[in-house]
Amino acid sequence: MNVLLLGSGGREHALAWKLAQSPLLTRLFAAPGNPGIAEHAEIVALDASDHRAVVDFCRRHSIELVVIGPEAPLVDGLADNLRTMGAAVFGPNRAPAQLEGSKGYTKELCARYGIPTARYARASDRLAAEAALGDFPLPVVIKADGLAAGKGVIIAATPEEAQAALGEMFDGSFGSAGAAVVIEEFLEGEEASFFALTDGETILPFGTAQDHKRVGDGDTGPNTGGMGAYSPASIVTPEIAGRVMAEMVEPTVRAQAERGAPFSGILYAGLMLTAEGPKLIEYNVRFGDPECEVLMMRLESDLLALMLATARGRLAEAEPPRFSDDAALTVVMAARGYPVTPEKGGAIGGIAEAEAEGAKVFHAGTALSGDRLVANGGRVLAVTARGASVAEARDRAYAAVDRIDFPTGFCRRDIGWREIARGKAGQRGVSS
Ligand code: AMP
Ligand code: GLY
Repeated sequence: MNVLLLGSGGREHALAWKLAQSPLLTRLFAAPGNPGIAEHAEIVALDASDHRAVVDFCRRHSIELVVIGPEAPLVDGLADNLRTMGAAVFGPNRAPAQLEGSKGYTKELCARYGIPTARYARASDRLAAEAALGDFPLPVVIKADGLAAGKGVIIAATPEEAQAALGEMFDGSFGSAGAAVVIEEFLEGEEASFFALTDGETILPFGTAQDHKRVGDGDTGPNTGGMGAYSPASIVTPEIAGRVMAEMVEPTVRAQAERGAPFSGILYAGLMLTAEGPKLIEYNVRFGDPECEVLMMRLESDLLALMLATARGRLAEAEPPRFSDDAALTVVMAARGYPVTPEKGGAIGGIAEAEAEGAKVFHAGTALSGDRLVANGGRVLAVTARGASVAEARDRAYAAVDRIDFPTGFCRRDIGWREIARGKAGQRGVSS
């Protein structure tokens, strides 16, 4: 069958790489794609915000499944328009995509269904927000309500920082995303990402990972889209996974079905594992990036078959996803200046040498300048490897990173540190 994949990041390269391995695939098209995706797909010039053009393309090329990688087209209702014309789509419609598109919407849902999350207040003007601030101890978390590409969250440690954050939100710095704010209690704990595949009714857990959001080693510096990840996240024990399914994912999927807007696609729960148990930080309605890279590296099932079963509402009949017992770890190589002003155009070499180390190098933000590969985004490459343990996957990934020639790039050197420290503590525990 013919498939169209929308997106241009490391997540979509990993999806393209995995889809291309499916015996069900005839032709894979990708838009806008990147030079890595081009190794597996025919790149087409399509703008995902031009819904009519996407629908027309699908008709002309007999596309049977459209896979929507990023959140913006989902929140914008592209899936609705494709479904109206009869295409199978992997990704939710506009209404259930509100789970990511509006933090206030998700907080209300949590309140209504008793889903554990941080205590919160929502305000749509500065005066109301200032009044609400008084109900929260410091540090306090202030978030733009709408989509802000992971940058709309400020953790304020002092009253002055909280005031400055509200000022920034309401002065238009976050565009329409900041028209309302959510003020939240600060949660202490370790973060993890939990994924579930659902067609609106059947729900299948789809792995765990841990991202590294801060730009610098030791989790320092500003937040980014994610500087590296590993999977599985052992901190999400089977007991915690069971609670996340029962206390968060199942009530959420049921609530969407009950309001006549079933959620179909991948639901990504961002968790804080607190002393009181797992709490929901946020939902995303698509795969995480770079979490997708490590999940795809471990997935043994046919991704296309699973996506198709999801899109067609037949997940109950599908074979549940199988993941390798191996761990996978990915290191993001970013362009100097990221996340503020990444330098464009820096030359990249050594990918074949890195892959000879046994890693897979996913392109996240690359372009061709003539026949030279150059940086074309903040996050540029996701260097990904497998191993019998996270430590082994980490060693392989960094051996590959060291073969990459990207003078204007940088990466964190400590991806996986929490898990590796846990492993060492565990070993000490056994020997002592
Ligand atoms: P979000 O965009 O909601 O995922 O938030 C981005 C990051 O801010 C999260 O990955 C957390 O590191 C942090 N964060 C968000 N909400 C909270 C909270 N209530 N308590 C502590 N940290 C938070
Ligand atoms: N890596 C975090 C995200 O995709 O939202």
